Amino acid sequence: MSPPPAPTLLDGFAYRDGTMHAEDVPLATIADEVGTPCWVYSHGVLDARFRAFDAAFAGIPHLVCYALKANSNQAVVRTFAELGAGADIVSEGELFRALAAGVPPERIVFAGVGKTAPEMAAALQAGILQFNVESEGELLRLSQVAAGMGRTAAVALRVNPDVDAGTHAKITTGTPDNKFGIEIGDARAVAAQAAALPGIRLAGLAMHIGSQLTSVEPYRAAFGRLADFARSLMNEDGHRLERLDLGGGLGVHYRHAPPVDLPSYAAAARAAVAGFPGTIVLEPGRWLVADAGILLARVQYVKRGSLKTFVILDAAMNDLVRPAMYDAWHPLRPVTEPAAGAEPVTVDVVGPICESSDVLATAREMPPVAPGELVAIGVAGAYGAAMSSFYNSRLPAPEVMVRGQGFSLVRSRPSYDEMIAHERLAPWQTHQP
Ligand code: LLP
Repeated sequence: MSPPPAPTLLDGFAYRDGTMHAEDVPLATIADEVGTPCWVYSHGVLDARFRAFDAAFAGIPHLVCYALKANSNQAVVRTFAELGAGADIVSEGELFRALAAGVPPERIVFAGVGKTAPEMAAALQAGILQFNVESEGELLRLSQVAAGMGRTAAVALRVNPDVDAGTHAKITTGTPDNKFGIEIGDARAVAAQAAALPGIRLAGLAMHIGSQLTSVEPYRAAFGRLADFARSLMNEDGHRLERLDLGGGLGVHYRHAPPVDLPSYAAAARAAVAGFPGTIVLEPGRWLVADAGILLARVQYVKRGSLKTFVILDAAMNDLVRPAMYDAWHPLRPVTEPAAGAEPVTVDVVGPICESSDVLATAREMPPVAPGELVAIGVAGAYGAAMSSFYNSRLPAPEVMVRGQGFSLVRSRPSYDEMIAHERLAPWQTHQP
């Protein structure tokens, strides 16, 4: 079976009257007002994605905890919070963001292999729903911290089910060569330990086998293992489990990978947890936000070499690092609709950063573009702005949210003063040279 073609239209971003719009707003208007590069998010797509995901689990007790790491902008998190979402957090910073955006603490789950004692204390103080505990050492530390505060931490043990997610090596998490979770063979003893420790209440199990999954088969296998293990903990060891956290990882359509079929993903989850008396927790990140965002950039130069033609943008790997880091393929379109039958050219699309890994697209066939033109890099709402940096002392791109005919700056571009605001000279440097 040949793979489906790359998407020709980006969800929420379509050509109208010869120019690409975000919902009802021409992207050129946003570029004029905010400058480039900038991120543009469609509120309508965020809203539709959350509703669709939530609806797929209708009829069973469930909680959708949006994985903040995919896009932690306050306006994005608030959009989901207003729809009843919880949050999957992995740091005290994400706890701060989730609470600030209005996510109720009793809908927050805290994952991650390296939680520090102060992070645990902050989350206990806030009254979060549960800690997804990834090792025996973490369990012991959490017990100490919680008991010391006179509190009880609800714990879901994150199990490593030994299922290969079949995704990029850098984002696979469900086999024993990854640092994540407690190996399923060891988890029974850790559960017994959890039940006996002060300050701990064993409330459930959790798993997450990887990100950008494009097949439901690994899910089916992992959900099955988790549910079997939950049954044995309940039926044989007498534990009372309230929640099964099935993690996130649903893939989106970047290029060749077929989009995961949400109904069959949900059906796999439903089948595995049938008869489980508690709530299931889901932690989608990418699937909720990827298609809702683009990176809008302006072509600076077109440089023709003997081997390649380079399209040099004002956006770079400090904005969108995924192509450099994971060889990710993002759709790229000129904002001005190409003439029908425009002969495509093959180009490398790069940024101004001083290293050769600064690529946004390699050997890309696309309509010819000229300096000054705007281009939209699609499916960039997830792990785009969230992974951006000040590298090369470039200011992180501002973020804009569009809703119908209106748009709003939801993160401004910092100033150069802000860029160096946390830096200090050492005392011996304070004399003017
Ligand atoms: N839950 C846990 C415990 C996770 O570690 C992750 C992602 C998620 C949920 C959300 O996964 P999602 O639904 O977004 O696939 N920077 C990489 C992706 C890293 C994913 C890390 N964990 C990228 O740009 O592809």
